[in-house]
Amino acid sequence: MREAVERLWPELEWIQDPKLREQVAQTWVRAFERSPLEPDDLNQIPFTLLVPNCPATFMEHKRCVVHIARRAAESMREFLGKALAIDLDTVIAGAILADVGKLLEYEKVEDEARQSDRGKALRHPFTGVALAMECGVPDAVCHIIAAHAAEGDLVKRSTEAYIVHHADFMSYLPFKNL
Ligand SMILES: [Fe+2]
Repeated sequence: MREAVERLWPELEWIQDPKLREQVAQTWVRAFERSPLEPDDLNQIPFTLLVPNCPATFMEHKRCVVHIARRAAESMREFLGKALAIDLDTVIAGAILADVGKLLEYEKVEDEARQSDRGKALRHPFTGVALAMECGVPDAVCHIIAAHAAEGDLVKRSTEAYIVHHADFMSYLPFKNL
């Protein structure tokens, strides 16, 4: 399973701190252990159930968010770095983990992914934080998981959480116009 997670997420290598990189990888391993989905499913299923017949896969969308978030954080550091402290490892780890809880939000019925009863009760920001905390992921990264989606609009987001939130939404909202 560990190798499958590394194949899904080459971006794990971008995390400089080896301890954090391991915690992030372990969170994904643990999520698969408890999910009806297999690693390969993430290259097939749509990234959201909120867009009917969504034409982008889970991994296409998630990796795109990580790439946008990293580049945005680098640009902000280049121009605003004296004014705003931005931790790149926290941004990358948070972006990789933002949707890990979706593995507990879906169930497979006749090969179709759909929202499970658990998913209705606990959306992925909540289950994602639970999984990450079990794996020792630091609070600053759990904060990004917790606050990346609409639930986070009620939270005072960190700079890193703003970056991941906007990277996520700029690559999600246009699909609602299709
Ligand atoms: Fe999400």
